[in-house]
Amino acid sequence: MDAKNRTVVALSGASGAIYAKQLLDFLVTTPHQVAIVASEHARQIWDAEMGIPLTSYDRPIYDVRDFSVPFASGSNVWDACVVVPCSMGMLGRIANGLADDLIARCGDVFLKERRKLILVPRETPYTAIHLENMLKVTHAGAVVLPASPSWYGKPQTLEQLVDTVIARIVDHLGIPYTPLTKRWGG
Ligand SMILES: Cc1cc2nc3c(=O)[nH]c(=O)nc-3n(C[C@H](O)[C@H](O)[C@H](O)COP(=O)(O)O)c2cc1C
Repeated sequence: MDAKNRTVVALSGASGAIYAKQLLDFLVTTPHQVAIVASEHARQIWDAEMGIPLTSYDRPIYDVRDFSVPFASGSNVWDACVVVPCSMGMLGRIANGLADDLIARCGDVFLKERRKLILVPRETPYTAIHLENMLKVTHAGAVVLPASPSWYGKPQTLEQLVDTVIARIVDHLGIPYTPLTKRWGG
């Protein structure tokens, strides 16, 4: 990954806004360009779950109805899109090619252009429909990276626990994450 890598962080309407927050907190400390998109439900859930406004980041929050943004088209080359957290509704729309809002459109674009698409689903339990949709997007080239924290690093805080997932996302983005969390085996 070069220093000018460009990543879309898309928040859809699932619980787990903290996953998006900690990914954004990390990415804004790197040289990588980050664009933020949030659905209406994602904004509501962020407000309910987080203590800071989503707008506290020094960059615009794109509206899901805004198809004029550069990364809505495959002709504008962005490197990766992370949908975090990913609702089952959004998963279903991406799995079935329903590019009816900016996040679902990003899913469509990043898959068709064979670019990195990482979906971080948050739901429990899963229905057969959810699982089939995860298989569908995986066959189409996405990485399904569930919000499933690990415990072997003995996280002491909620943030450290969440960072065990963020570290895996960041690995898939190809960015070194030394300060984030311990790797198994040292
Ligand atoms: C407070 C709240 C929490 C929600 N949590 C989840 C969740 O964890 N997973 C999920 O798939 N949907 C969840 N939903 C439902 C989605 O927000 C809803 O299906 C929405 O239409 C998804 O569309 P969006 O992803 O475009 O926002 C939640 C909704 C609310 C209001």
